[in-house]
Amino acid sequence: MAQPVLEIHNLHVRVKEEDKEIVRGLDLAIGSGEIHAIMGPNGTGKSTLASALMGHPAYEVTEGTVVLDGKDVLEMSVDERARAGMFLAMQYPAEVSGVSNANFLRTALNARRGEGNEIPVLKFHRQLHEQMKRLNIDPSFAERYLNEGFSGGEKKRNEILQMAMLEPRLAILDEIDSGLDIDALRIVADAVNQLRSPDRGFLIITHYQRLLQYIVPDFVHVMMKGRIVRSGGKELAEKLEQNGYDWLKQELGIEDETVGAEA
Ligand SMILES: Nc1ncnc2c1ncn2[C@@H]1O[C@H](COP(=O)(O)OP(=O)(O)O)[C@@H](O)[C@H]1O
Ligand SMILES: [Mg+2]
Repeated sequence: MAQPVLEIHNLHVRVKEEDKEIVRGLDLAIGSGEIHAIMGPNGTGKSTLASALMGHPAYEVTEGTVVLDGKDVLEMSVDERARAGMFLAMQYPAEVSGVSNANFLRTALNARRGEGNEIPVLKFHRQLHEQMKRLNIDPSFAERYLNEGFSGGEKKRNEILQMAMLEPRLAILDEIDSGLDIDALRIVADAVNQLRSPDRGFLIITHYQRLLQYIVPDFVHVMMKGRIVRSGGKELAEKLEQNGYDWLKQELGIEDETVGAEA
């Protein structure tokens, strides 16, 4: 396997509020340059996994390890994870009033680059406008408050704008395709494909195979009941598209794929 970017071993994650275990012993290794897709029905813990990797305070890791480039991620704060090169495009991006898109991005980018290595302002704006053009985002969005009043599709493209600017080591995209029409989907997929690099790993979470026709993954994993129950190549996604999830549930003897009430 390629040099590992992210190594997850026996991860267990609990929702703090509800005292419910959602991720239940998940293993996954992503090599540099690889695109991994996690597919799965709703309610199987995909977003919980993404949030826990990024350090969202609503979730507690109760067992297991997460290692990024040899470093213990679980010991890091959220901003340390971001500076170490982790990036999450959220399924439901938050609106932040009072902070312009451009300011937010410049602050985040400079935090990632480190003190003394800040990007020159003009260079930043040139890069920002290049990327916005590529993503078909109106230039006025640079000065608009972060995600405020953005449509669902605009929020998704804005997440990809952040990814393009921050050039993460590991990009996690949670249902980036939801709410996108076919044209926006193509634009987003093109942007991801352009960022494909031997120095970067991707974890793409999606419900539908459609996205994976445009962003062709190296590995596909199916998540049910809080763990990965099947892994394969891109043909696994095609099989799921044709046959749904029921055959796999039958093969595995799973009746209810969600991590639900019985926990
Ligand atoms: N912050 C939270 N508070 C309460 N329950 C949560 C929270 N986050 C996730 N869950 C529960 O965890 C389960 C899995 O949710 P999620 O990770 O969003 O699944 P998926 O992304 O696969 O659809 C669901 O039953 C959901 O209600
Ligand atoms: Mg989700």
